[in-house]
Amino acid sequence: MTNKPAPTEVAIHELIAGRWSPRAYSSEPVSREHLHAVLEAARWAPSSYNAQPWRFVVFDRSVDEVSFKKAFATLVPFNQGWNAPAPVLIAVTTHTLTNKGEVNRCAPYDAGAAAMALVLQAHALGLAAHQMSGFDANAFRTAFELPNDVDVISIISLGHYGEVDKLDPVLREREKSVRQRLPLADIAYGGGWKKAF
Ligand SMILES: Cc1cc2nc3c(=O)[nH]c(=O)nc-3n(C[C@H](O)[C@H](O)[C@H](O)COP(=O)(O)O)c2cc1C
Repeated sequence: MTNKPAPTEVAIHELIAGRWSPRAYSSEPVSREHLHAVLEAARWAPSSYNAQPWRFVVFDRSVDEVSFKKAFATLVPFNQGWNAPAPVLIAVTTHTLTNKGEVNRCAPYDAGAAAMALVLQAHALGLAAHQMSGFDANAFRTAFELPNDVDVISIISLGHYGEVDKLDPVLREREKSVRQRLPLADIAYGGGWKKAF
C-alpha cells in the first residue's frame, strides 16, 4: 500500500496531501542517490537567521550494520516491531544554542521544518518515511556521544513500501484506516484567539 491521500477540506498539492506515515517496509536498501536527495531537501529548509541548526545522522543498514543496530536498539519496542525490515534510520538532531551561546528557541522549529522537507522529498521519490519520537533520547545521546548543546528530536525510518499483510492485525487495520485531522475551524483562528476564521 503506497497511497493514502488526506481527505482534505479544500484541494491542496498532491505532495502534501499524499505524504503519510506508513509502517509496512520492505528490506530493499535505499540508493545513495535517493539518500542524498532527501538530505538535500532538508538542507534547503528555511531557518531563523539561516542558522541551519539541524544535523542528520544517517544509519544505513547496508553500509554500517553495527551503527544501524545501535540506533535501532534505542527505539521503543513498538517501533522496533514494525521497523524490523527498515533499511535506513535518520536521527534528526539540532544544535540548541546560537553562535553567541544563547538558547536558540527556533531550533526545534527549524529542525522540524527540515524534517518535513526530508519526508516530502522521500514521498516525491516514491519512498516511505515515518518520523518517530518513540525512542530513548538519553540512550541515543550516550551511544553516539552527542555534544551537550545538541538535542536529538526524532528518528525517521526510510525505505521502500512493503506488504501491509505482513504487519500484525492491529497495525494492518491502522495502515488502511482513513487519516484523521482536527477540523480546519479548530486549528485556524481569525483576528484573535478562538475567533472564527
Ligand atoms: C515528531 C513525530 C513523532 C512521531 N512518533 C511516532 C512514533 O514513535 N511511532 C509511530 O508509530 N508513529 C509516530 N509518528 C507518526 C504519527 O503518528 C503520524 O504522523 C500521525 O498519526 C499522522 O499520520 P500521517 O503522518 O500518516 O498523516 C510521529 C510523528 C511525528 C511528526
